[in-house]
Amino acid sequence: MVKQHYEKMRGKKVLVTGGLGFVGHNLVKSLVNDYDCKVTVVDDCINSNESTIASVRDKVQFHKMSVLDTARFFPLLNEAQYIFHLACIQIAASSTNPIADMQVNAQSTLQILEYLRQSSLPSLERFVYTSSCSVYGSSSRLPVREEDATRVLSNYAATKLLGEHYTMIYNRNYNIPVSVVRYSNVYGYGQSPRNPYCGVLGKFVHNALTGKPLSIFGDGEQTRDYTFITDAVDATILTAVHPLAYGDVYNVGTCVETSVTKLVDLIVQHVPGVNVENIPERDIDNIRRRMIDIEKIHQRLGWAPRVGIQKGIQLTIDWYRSTL
Ligand SMILES: NC(=O)c1ccc[n+]([C@@H]2O[C@H](COP(=O)([O-])OP(=O)(O)OC[C@H]3O[C@@H](n4cnc5c(N)ncnc54)[C@H](O)[C@@H]3O)[C@@H](O)[C@H]2O)c1
Repeated sequence: MVKQHYEKMRGKKVLVTGGLGFVGHNLVKSLVNDYDCKVTVVDDCINSNESTIASVRDKVQFHKMSVLDTARFFPLLNEAQYIFHLACIQIAASSTNPIADMQVNAQSTLQILEYLRQSSLPSLERFVYTSSCSVYGSSSRLPVREEDATRVLSNYAATKLLGEHYTMIYNRNYNIPVSVVRYSNVYGYGQSPRNPYCGVLGKFVHNALTGKPLSIFGDGEQTRDYTFITDAVDATILTAVHPLAYGDVYNVGTCVETSVTKLVDLIVQHVPGVNVENIPERDIDNIRRRMIDIEKIHQRLGWAPRVGIQKGIQLTIDWYRSTL
């Protein structure tokens, strides 16, 4: 039944912003390899490069440009049946460059939606906005559900939530077909450790394999809900094609909490002799606990994560080993 929904993506014309980034290039590869889509990628390479899509490069139209360069970017929207808007300024950069954060994460979203409204593009089937579970802040009730209160604690969370709000407003007021996903810490293949905003798991695995210490901020008991990249990509595609995801917001996670200390333990099982250093807590993303309720996406769309943290870490280590 779920498979039948995914099949709607086959052969479609798809535009992916931020399509060279970590989630973006994995999504692009799946769209090309698994669904024979005609994919256009827009990315300004501020945080990535073209090598990430090398294996499918001949099947992808790539435009090196900013989503804020509307004169060049907007004509590319005209043909798209599905638009995945992933271009973003990452959380660690959002405090050092808050204006760019607002422009890329929120303003570009509004500009795209306004263009879609004014152009009434007949071919558009869905606009998907990739948001973040950071919009929940430090929730007192775990696992956190979509209808729970948002409480933004960073520029990044604020601008991702604003992007979400615009997306939902353009659905409610102008019937633009949209879906929103809120990812929880995605990790796995292709998360470049050279990217200064690479997630903790990617950094840990890379450091473990290259003999560098794993730096634990604070006591290491802070938890996150880690989503393997292939699961995040599958959920994102499903929200684009599923009728029940139209005009709605879905958490994408695992509903499993893993502490930083536990991550280290799991990595050490595969890479013995790892050095660990404890350093003072950072002033970004210092939420104590995060665990995401995924009942809504499970019950309504039939999605569930396939890769647990143990398997995901093993796959991540294998991937890093093969690239080092
Ligand atoms: N990775 C995660 O754990 C996670 C968690 C929650 C939400 N998200 C969301 O998922 C999406 C993808 O995240 P990611 O981890 O792949 O990030 P990433 O930084 O790896 O990729 C973002 C891409 O956007 C590009 N970009 C930045 N500014 C641009 C601009 N002005 N024009 C065009 N391209 C631009 C960058 O070059 C990069 O390739 C983002 O919207 C992010 O907010 C990711």
